[in-house]
Amino acid sequence: MFEALKQLPQDPILQLMQMFRDDARPEKVDLGVGVYKDDTGNTPIMAAVHEAECRLLEGETTKSYVGPAGSAGFNESMTRLILGDGSSLIREGRTSVIQTPGGCGALRMAAEFFRLCQPDTKVWVSTPTWANHMPLLGGAGLNIREYPYLNPETLTVNFAAMLNSLESAGAGDVVLLHGCCHNPSGADLTFDQWKVVTELIQRKGLLPFVDMAYQGLGDGLEEDAAGLRYLASQVPEMVVAASCSKNFGLYRERTGALMLISATEAVNTAATSQLLSVVRSHYSMPPAHGAAIVETILGDDALRAQWQGELGGMCERILGLRHAFADALAPVGDFRFIARQRGMFSFLGITPEQVRRLREEHGIYMLESSRVNVAGLNDLVLPTVANAIRSVM
Ligand code: LMR
Repeated sequence: MFEALKQLPQDPILQLMQMFRDDARPEKVDLGVGVYKDDTGNTPIMAAVHEAECRLLEGETTKSYVGPAGSAGFNESMTRLILGDGSSLIREGRTSVIQTPGGCGALRMAAEFFRLCQPDTKVWVSTPTWANHMPLLGGAGLNIREYPYLNPETLTVNFAAMLNSLESAGAGDVVLLHGCCHNPSGADLTFDQWKVVTELIQRKGLLPFVDMAYQGLGDGLEEDAAGLRYLASQVPEMVVAASCSKNFGLYRERTGALMLISATEAVNTAATSQLLSVVRSHYSMPPAHGAAIVETILGDDALRAQWQGELGGMCERILGLRHAFADALAPVGDFRFIARQRGMFSFLGITPEQVRRLREEHGIYMLESSRVNVAGLNDLVLPTVANAIRSVM
């Protein structure tokens, strides 16, 4: 059965991770995979997470199954984190959240759910988008359409082209939007642009699907959700895939959430029952540990404040690095867009050949597209990286 199978090329992000690990040069710099790093280049366990884990270890009484929806407490906390405490959607019973194995689990379950609702669903994704969006959504059998998002010359949002393209979407098509910290470009919609997109979605009867993988790493927890919350307040139906990988630093614990928003409570109850049957037939139930950590943190005022402080520090550090990086690159060209963008990523706008030279000659790793993880920089390596970029340009 296996003999006919061909060797597949590796996923570009995972391949880069491996190449970096295999590189023996001590001065190597990892600006590849999207994980937060501190000044020492380590991806830390947040102190609030560590404290929550200690409490869980002390208080845990069972390892019995959690059920396909996961923990009700986690789901409730994530609903409030995403929509805000005062959301009328929560009061009206129009929302449900299920715990998923990471943001990827949420994206894939959403895709399977769309297919169940409508087998020939088209889903519109931005060009560019996160490399794993295509396999996650296309692998569920959805028809992928692309809308232009980034102007490759200026590396800023080409909003006119985006709108123009989405005008050709049809009623019932799904539009995938990045909630904040667009991956891979760092170029986000302004609040006014969210309003215009909302109007288009309403007018054309599209289904908004928001990937919220970086809440709190752009401008802050509330600010980063402003566009999503406005959209949710205006449309009858919406789907949100959220990840706790970055804002809680829980990467390997695979912790995420999938939210359905429906026109009425009754519709939501029925839709959620369908979604849960999709879950049951895929992985049955999500892993518990990461979600238990998040639930513990969000359910305790002091721990939550500690977590928010730590997250705010990470966010500030990235913003500081964005400014320092743009300044350090000023002799080479105008990179001020890096300081204006948000989240972990920006494109440098250099060629694959220049990216290769940076890797081979200087041990500096970034995606072939020239996406850099700004969080991988620190005061020590920043001048070296800036010099190396100068030398290949
Ligand atoms: C990234 O974009 O680098 C991260 O989201 C990690 C991944 O799984 O691709």
